[in-house]
Amino acid sequence: MRRINNILITGGAGFIGSNLIRYIFLETDFMGRIINVDKLTYASNLNNLSDIASKFKLKRYFFKKVDICDFENLRIIFKKYQIDTVIHLAAESHVDRSIVGPTDFIHTNILGTFNLLQIAGSFWTDRKYVLFHHVSTDEVYGSLGKEGYFSEETAYDPRSPYSASKASSDHLVKSYFYTYNLPVTVSNCSNNYGPRQYPEKLIPFMISRMLEKKELPVYGDGKNIRDWLYVDDHSSAIWKIINNGRAGQTYNIGGDNEWENIELVKLLCKVFSEEVDEDLNLYESLITFVKDRPGHDKRYAVNCEKIKNELDWKPSTVFESGLRYTLRWYLKNDDFIKSLKNNQFENWLVKNYNSRSNNKVNLVTR
Ligand code: NAD
Ligand code: DAU
Repeated sequence: MRRINNILITGGAGFIGSNLIRYIFLETDFMGRIINVDKLTYASNLNNLSDIASKFKLKRYFFKKVDICDFENLRIIFKKYQIDTVIHLAAESHVDRSIVGPTDFIHTNILGTFNLLQIAGSFWTDRKYVLFHHVSTDEVYGSLGKEGYFSEETAYDPRSPYSASKASSDHLVKSYFYTYNLPVTVSNCSNNYGPRQYPEKLIPFMISRMLEKKELPVYGDGKNIRDWLYVDDHSSAIWKIINNGRAGQTYNIGGDNEWENIELVKLLCKVFSEEVDEDLNLYESLITFVKDRPGHDKRYAVNCEKIKNELDWKPSTVFESGLRYTLRWYLKNDDFIKSLKNNQFENWLVKNYNSRSNNKVNLVTR
């Protein structure tokens, strides 16, 4: 087990990052410090961590609004907090947005990762107790047919600007291990769901639409398949890797939980109608098939025997219960979505939805 004192988490105000910080403080025996570095893009929300901030602030939890492309400020943070562990999550993360405008994806995901590697490489002269963990995606492996799984040996074959930028960053991270002896680990994870996810991604987006009883746009024929993992199960996997993972290794993480999009949306309709005590037909009738996403990967499925066998990890959340818990969280924290009903959010949804729909609709009703 590694000795971990000062963890720099990038992208800690986003969906997975904020859940990860909560997990480490609330569910593990970690007694050190976490420094959360986040640029606070549209996808972030510092309210995700307000309770953590008041409980641990200025002793064990520190937030810095910094861009990961900012070499000088990151160098200062490394020095000031004597960072020994990096968990790198900061990224532009939405595939649809990468199709509409890839530039930020190249900057943050590739150049930002490169910047962090440069700083870690120059700051960590003694490499005995340090680790750079890079959080990546199963999308780097491309698209599967009906059979088979992505393993750690599957050749990279990214299809969207998002997955290409993540693939590039994975390669850079690995290159620092081979070339500069930097202790690194990489994890490639499937689709996460859970509380605090920005409602542009499938599950919270559908929830936001059901709340307003509006069309539920399913891309193409709805038969694309994703493997869904509850976000805390991702956090527990990352925690195992940074404690006991082997430097230079990649670990795949997945939920053993494949769903066709259409079946998932129907399940969500069922859970939603039960939770709000309304007729299921009312929600199912909102399902609308719309124009497909360009380059839409057909199926993702992850073989995660390596992390199971080597690090004794497994996904523990039963899907329907995780979905219900997530839904209840959004119903209880309705400000999370309502507070985003500003022009920026609406404009994106209108643009993205209308680019696919035959029936152009005005999404703004408030
Ligand atoms: P997210 O979009 O919810 O959060 C990303 C965070 O990074 C935001 O808080 C944002 O402000 C921050 N950020 C963006 N650019 C930055 C920059 N230049 N400098 C500093 N901070 C910046 O994303 P997420 O879903 O939480 O994903 C986190 C990581 O996990 C990403 O690297 C993503 O590729 C990876 N991942 C996500 C999933 C998923 O299903 N969401 C699955 C596998 C891997
Ligand atoms: O596999 C891991 C990846 O999962 C992460 O690396 C990404 O950061 C994350 O965004 C996610 O990518 P996807 O493209 O799979 O997620 P998204 O929620 O955008 O879409 C899930 C599926 O649902 C996908 O097949 C497209 C479809 N979809 C999505 C939206 C938003 C719809 O049918 N309708 C929609 O409105």
